[in-house]
Amino acid sequence: MAAEGCTGPSWLQQLGLLLLLARCGARWSGPGTSLHLETIFLGRCAEYSTLLSLQTKNCTSIWEAFKVVLGKDPCSVFPSDYDLFINLSRHSIPREKSLFWENNHLLVTSYADNTRRFLPLSDVLYGRVGDFLTWCRQENASGLDYQSCPTSEDCENNAVDSYWKRASMQYSRDSSGVIYVMLNGSETTGAYPVKGFFADFEIPYFQKDKITRIEIWVMHEIGGPNIESCGEGSVKILEDRLEAMGFQYSCINNYLPVKHLKCVDYSMHPDCALNVMALSSQAKV
Ligand SMILES: *[C@@H]1O[C@H](CO)[C@@H](O)[C@H](O)[C@H]1NC(C)=O
Ligand SMILES: *[C@@H]1O[C@H](CO)[C@@H](O)[C@H](O)[C@H]1NC(C)=O
Ligand SMILES: *[C@@H]1O[C@H](CO)[C@@H](O)[C@H](O)[C@H]1NC(C)=O
Ligand SMILES: *[C@@H]1O[C@H](CO)[C@@H](O)[C@H](O)[C@H]1NC(C)=O
Repeated sequence: MAAEGCTGPSWLQQLGLLLLLARCGARWSGPGTSLHLETIFLGRCAEYSTLLSLQTKNCTSIWEAFKVVLGKDPCSVFPSDYDLFINLSRHSIPREKSLFWENNHLLVTSYADNTRRFLPLSDVLYGRVGDFLTWCRQENASGLDYQSCPTSEDCENNAVDSYWKRASMQYSRDSSGVIYVMLNGSETTGAYPVKGFFADFEIPYFQKDKITRIEIWVMHEIGGPNIESCGEGSVKILEDRLEAMGFQYSCINNYLPVKHLKCVDYSMHPDCALNVMALSSQAKV
């Protein structure tokens, strides 16, 4: 696990032991607090509130509610520590616009198109402000830890996981109409993680009376591998679970609009040929 550049002459290690510890002996397994956390948070909050015309949101008070966790032991932050933050930042999610996912972060971000097509959790105010960011207090001091932060490998109740758990629960409770779920059928560990944010912090919080049906999209990487498809492996486990819960559901392999978006990066790949005419006109150029 040693980072590159951490081995040096032993005299240097002895002389600069503290420095080396700071640089190389990262305490936790995850990246440290994101630089400019507060600026990014406040900027995203202001931009997003404007985008969705949430005039009633006070980004300063939302930040103040959030930053309480920055004063807590990095392994003793609980989902409930974000209650006030969620309370202040929460807003309704339009019907049929919820998009749940696993192992597809960047694809979901592009497909959602900044709330234009869908509002996955990262396109809801309380998810947007923390998306792709990390934060934690130092273990035995009051400042932020910019070196490393705990992940689930280090401790369950770390600041970032607890944030996503609390945000996921809220997102799920506030979702209605048709629920869309994008899974990755090329993921070697299975398209539907049976332990994960979707399985443990979203499905259990679905409000059955507000949901008309659930539509699963299993996306494969262009050119494969096709590890799992609808009705197979972990996708089957998910389908059985939804059925047992009494939901109407359907499952689509390589949902076409999303496949077209993936094909932007593989326009010459045979799997991305729209039709024979398109192929032959490309061939002539
Ligand atoms: C926003 O919240 C801050 C801190 O809670 C408060 O000082 C400020 O007056 C509030 N602004 C508005 C416009 O309500
Ligand atoms: C959240 O807001 C509701 C009112 O909308 C209030 O009843 C509740 O006590 C608030 N919870 C927290 C943690 O502030
Ligand atoms: C899907 O999973 C594969 C295998 O882990 C990965 O290489 C690929 O980047 C994932 N696709 C997306 C859109 O994240
Ligand atoms: C924090 O304090 C505890 C208890 O004194 C100690 O075991 C741990 O190594 C310290 N951590 C750091 C990063 O200094």
